[in-house]
Amino acid sequence: TGSLTVGELAGKLHKEPSEIIKKLFMLGVMATINQDLDKDSIELIAGEYGVEVEEVIVFDVTEFEGYATEDQEDQLQIRPPVVTIMGHVDHGKTTLLDSIRNTKVTAGEAGGITQHIGAYQVVVNNKKITFLDTPGHAAFTTMRARGAQVTDITILVVAADDGVMPQTVEAISHAKAAEVPIIVAVNKMDKESANPDRVMQELTEYGLVSEAWGGDTIFVPLSALSGDGIDELLEMILLVSEVEEWKANPNRAATGTVIEAQLDKGRGSVATLLVQNGTLRVGDSIVVGNTFGRVRAMVNDLGRRVKEVGPSTPVEITGLSDVPQAGDQFMVFTDEKKARQVGEARASKQLDEQRKEGAKLSLDDLFEQI
Ligand code: GTP
Ligand code: MG
Repeated sequence: TGSLTVGELAGKLHKEPSEIIKKLFMLGVMATINQDLDKDSIELIAGEYGVEVEEVIVFDVTEFEGYATEDQEDQLQIRPPVVTIMGHVDHGKTTLLDSIRNTKVTAGEAGGITQHIGAYQVVVNNKKITFLDTPGHAAFTTMRARGAQVTDITILVVAADDGVMPQTVEAISHAKAAEVPIIVAVNKMDKESANPDRVMQELTEYGLVSEAWGGDTIFVPLSALSGDGIDELLEMILLVSEVEEWKANPNRAATGTVIEAQLDKGRGSVATLLVQNGTLRVGDSIVVGNTFGRVRAMVNDLGRRVKEVGPSTPVEITGLSDVPQAGDQFMVFTDEKKARQVGEARASKQLDEQRKEGAKLSLDDLFEQI
């Protein structure tokens, strides 16, 4: 049962545990600081201090995972596709997105290397598409894996002058593991050394056979630099989306995934979330991984403050009590108290696990020394 120990109750009442133990003694209960108290004792002690116990919390952490109830078919509406750009380092992923968005993110990157997941939304033919940019550098495997897990479509960027390289292969395996359709963007077609046939040839080894060669993988030759072929790529994305009809229910509490998060000196915990279902609003009580809070402010990918965002939208939020981890799931609770309970329960569960792991480690260390 989810009772409190004497120590925990003392903490909640802002009293010394010794004082609580004394009170319990007066009431005929012998207790130690780590002893679990039953509901009656808790109510009795709280009553002594004029505190009303609203509810003795019997809380099951698994409730968080089970909270994501199935939506009914008639509640679902078409949502924008989430498209993740993957591929080997320097094959032109960020340039491609810059070109699509008409921005110059690449120019601002240290050494021209992407080191995080960038999340953006663009409107093409009145239809929104959400893009995630991932790093191609070998060091960022987990980010690529994460990107593949939240996406609907993977755009595999392969430079036509370089061909299939190690992180091209890695990206294919992430997309396959996540069972996500792949569209191949054969980039840098403006280069004289471009050899798209070689790319097509090399990719057949990984089961990606172009439609021109009797397979079912879409290949789009393009130049991220000149812009040639980009309209065709966007058309293909919309075509695949029309066939797949990805849907979500905007009329429910939001759920989704943390894209990235960090501690900001001025703003505290700042997290970029991808809303995958429901609508997220300023003021919502939210559990994010092992932390929680209320959404204080939301900023979209254009740096503008927004009050609410629907499915497939990336948004930066502040207001969390701690910094969550990229890849963490989040969930809005209609009840702030519930959010706090779930957040605290998850945090303490995590602490427990860390302690257990620590214990295991030191035991192993011990054996090693023997
Ligand atoms: P990482 O994020 O570090 O994996 O790299 P990236 O895949 O995002 O590559 P990025 O867009 O930073 O481009 C790498 C280099 O290739 C830059 O110098 C780009 O200008 C250049 N480049 C990208 N696309 C093209 C293209 O279509 N043609 C030519 N000629 N150069 C390109
Ligand atoms: Mg990049």
